[in-house]
Amino acid sequence: MITLDLLKKIAEKHSTPCYIYDAEKIRENCRKITKAFTKYYPKTEIHYAVKANNNPAVLKIIQQEGLSADCSSPFELLAADRSGFEKSKIMYTGNYENSEDFAFATEYADTINLDDITSFVRLLNFQKPDIVSFRINPGIGRGGFEGVVTGGVDAKFGIPYEKALEAYQSGYNAGIRRFGIHMMTGSNNLEPLFFAEITDKLMHIAGSIFNKLRIVPEYVDIGGGFGIPYSDEEPEIDIEKTAELVSARFKEGCIRYNFGIPVLKLEPGRYITGNSGILLTKVTGLKKSYRNYAGVDAGMNSLLRPALYGAVHRAEAPFNTGKAEKINLCGRICENSDIFSRDVMLPELNEGDLLVFKDCGAYGYTMSSNYNGRPRPAEIVVDKESITFVRKKETAQEMLEKHFKVQNVME
Ligand SMILES: Cc1ncc(COP(=O)(O)O)c(C=O)c1O
Repeated sequence: MITLDLLKKIAEKHSTPCYIYDAEKIRENCRKITKAFTKYYPKTEIHYAVKANNNPAVLKIIQQEGLSADCSSPFELLAADRSGFEKSKIMYTGNYENSEDFAFATEYADTINLDDITSFVRLLNFQKPDIVSFRINPGIGRGGFEGVVTGGVDAKFGIPYEKALEAYQSGYNAGIRRFGIHMMTGSNNLEPLFFAEITDKLMHIAGSIFNKLRIVPEYVDIGGGFGIPYSDEEPEIDIEKTAELVSARFKEGCIRYNFGIPVLKLEPGRYITGNSGILLTKVTGLKKSYRNYAGVDAGMNSLLRPALYGAVHRAEAPFNTGKAEKINLCGRICENSDIFSRDVMLPELNEGDLLVFKDCGAYGYTMSSNYNGRPRPAEIVVDKESITFVRKKETAQEMLEKHFKVQNVME
């Protein structure tokens, strides 16, 4: 648990901005989703989407909870491997993959979800896989923001379902006899029925292709996208209901299309780590302009989601007790999109006060950058009120050393 006492200590000892993750919350999330899905379909395999949070201590917790991993870059593969995930539990889902991606994916991952028929051709130049799985765009998608809708006509991902038969036929013609099928239609969805509907759609697509080719899938992967509430008004996703509805549609499809008992794969990222993390930051300046601003030492370089999607993370000033007033919270980056939230009601703030942004455990640190020459924040993992992992905040000096290490070939 991240107590107020701990927050104070962390701010004093490790400085701000700082991501803090609660290990117990991550374990709880892993157990909740595993229990829900395996109850209705025991042959479910849950691959944590490493892109959400690749902190080594976080990955270790998830590995120890028995989850598998889904990676989308050579670095993520190396991080999953180093964190103890066995190759048999690592999957690779990329897009527009190059030969470096495939070199790493074939070495570290057991299965690859291919983004296109051309991906398969590039992979064949490299290595003939034992099993082929294509990411199918089922023609529909939904997400918390437009930027996280990854299915439908405007998505760059996957093979349009109308071309899916051609893709699997090319696999069959190349001598492949083991197959999987994959989709990922969008992130941060909270409605159980949505997951049931897309499962139904994928089963229908899989049935029509696989029955024609007289093959059966070893696995059907419905992707991630299980959301978390970012505001007081949003409900938590009913994961038990989601599992019940998805499994029912999945089992119906398996019977209808004679698939036997394939593995049902999921790739949750946000659901596992999203609500486990906070971003601790400090007020650096207060300004009364056309609107009132509190500037903090975190910015869009530390937490990109607000600038990228218009996402809002609830803010709290845990040590302030004054009268609540409206304030705009911003970072120190030279972009006007570097505004975390507008018109938030917070107790009166002063320079040096600590502020907390909630639900920053997914797509927080992994999306951070050095923009404006700002160092990346620290990361800390707390387990039952004690600190178990610290990655120190970068310093400007460290960044400078790395920067000037580059060899000048003109000299
Ligand atoms: C292929 C794939 N799988 C899984 C995920 C995880 O999504 P989420 O964090 O919404 O569960 C993503 C996110 O973009 C993804 O692209």
